[in-house]
Amino acid sequence: MIEVRNLCKYFRNSDSLITKALDDINLVIPDGQCVLIAGANGSGKSLLMRLIAKLEKPTKGSVETSEDVGLVFQDADAQILADTPLEDVMFGLRRNKKLSKDEAKAKALKALSDVGLSDKANSPSHFLSGGEKRRLAVASVMALGRKILILDEVYINLD
Ligand SMILES: Nc1ncnc2c1ncn2[C@@H]1O[C@H](COP(=O)(O)OP(=O)(O)OP(=O)(O)O)[C@@H](O)[C@H]1O
Ligand SMILES: [Mg+2]
Repeated sequence: MIEVRNLCKYFRNSDSLITKALDDINLVIPDGQCVLIAGANGSGKSLLMRLIAKLEKPTKGSVETSEDVGLVFQDADAQILADTPLEDVMFGLRRNKKLSKDEAKAKALKALSDVGLSDKANSPSHFLSGGEKRRLAVASVMALGRKILILDEVYINLD
């Protein structure tokens, strides 16, 4: 479950100018629901998702989630940290789940297979196509087995 109450996020652009990127947002998403959030460029969708995933702190208000959140970023490049897809998925599993190297490798290979990237597992990540980078980001998040998944720009670059 996700519960957003009176959520505000303000940015100070200069001494006199404050951007109210999110202003008093209220949202409850019960277990088992799939919700699509649509809005204009710059309306605050990605920011809301980062706040729900606890990657940012609210200026005011609160965000509560029943479980840790898996977030696939809008920009896949910002999410890929390691030199190869296999290392990238393993990195998240080792850091977040404290798995052994062998366990992490087995889970990572399964996740890469699920998104059709088995043959690129040991290729340089930066040579992946836009859609392949997106698939890698999805694999890294899916491998963690999070029950709450947020996909920012769900179809971007994907066929
Ligand atoms: N760290 C920051 N500092 C200053 N302004 C920010 C920051 N993060 C976001 N913003 C501003 O908040 C607003 C909302 O940005 P956000 O990325 O959430 O939009 P979006 O709805 O996801 O847009 P798009 O459809 O283009 O992805 C924008 O005007 C952006 O410039
Ligand atoms: Mg966005």
